[in-house]
Amino acid sequence: MAAKKTVRSRLLELLEQNKGKVLSGERIAEELSCTRAAVWKAVKVLREEGYEIEAGPNRGYMLSEDSNLLAEEGIRPFLDKQEVYLQVYPEVGSTNRAAKEAAVSGKAHHGSAVLADQQNSGRGRKGRQFFSPKDSGLYLSVILEPKGSLRENLILTAQAAAAVHKAVKEITGISLDIKWVNDLYCHGKKVGGILTEAVTDFESGEIQFAVVGIGLNLYKPEKGFPAELEGVAGALYEKREDAEGINRNKLAAALINCLLEETREIRIPPEYFMNNLVPGHRIQILDGQRTRFADALEICPDGRLKIREEDGTETLLCYGEVSLKI
Ligand code: BTN
Repeated sequence: MAAKKTVRSRLLELLEQNKGKVLSGERIAEELSCTRAAVWKAVKVLREEGYEIEAGPNRGYMLSEDSNLLAEEGIRPFLDKQEVYLQVYPEVGSTNRAAKEAAVSGKAHHGSAVLADQQNSGRGRKGRQFFSPKDSGLYLSVILEPKGSLRENLILTAQAAAAVHKAVKEITGISLDIKWVNDLYCHGKKVGGILTEAVTDFESGEIQFAVVGIGLNLYKPEKGFPAELEGVAGALYEKREDAEGINRNKLAAALINCLLEETREIRIPPEYFMNNLVPGHRIQILDGQRTRFADALEICPDGRLKIREEDGTETLLCYGEVSLKI
């Protein structure tokens, strides 16, 4: 049974849904079925947590448009599927790891998500770290329970990249580029990545659940990127002020909604092909310790990349990492 929501929590939901609008204390008390004194107490608690709640001219309350704290109450009202486990941490090791634990414990199912404002051991592909500083990006992991085997679901990552493209376009108007397989680019810099992990049943080969982890750099971190990412990593916006009016909670909800929508069928959405940077370019393929050059021809409907090797033979790459040679 779901725990009873506190006045603080319900007030936050109401204010997040009406961001920038003044709501009278009377109306709030009526909607939350509590006293005006209880509303005032909850406003005080939220202000202490860092929410900018202004008192309007007619003694109402308004959550400032600039308030951009990531919160379950700010995300859930915008979800298409609202009755899911949703956990938002101010700080966590890795949302992928936390989501896996929640799924294994049985409390989180299809459509559930774990988000964080900061990750201390954010994980990237191939055992790399994913730089995830505070107040600068969105780090979220969504649990999916797709039908079929691991093999049939290898397109999940490509579907996720298309979902990120769609959600970011819908909320910010920015059209991200996708670099096969799952990197997200903006003005030539990597602004996001996806790490998909799955737990399978050893005997049947069926997926028990998958965790799709999405990391998106919204604003450049205050102290800049670490030296090894300088020139490679970027963000959707140079500075936080440039992202005025972009609600992180709404963007998080849009990412979850789009991901659930785009993974309903076993097919890669057209956005993946239309916005992919790789076809038509000379590429360098990082294959274990070995690197080689090839021409990228096209992405096949099943997500594999058709390439022409240096000796002229055409082959299909299933996964791996490529860099563009321009
Ligand atoms: C990559 O580009 O190598 C993939 C990066 C994936 C990062 C995201 S952030 C949210 C989720 N939690 C993690 O620890 N990793 C993924």
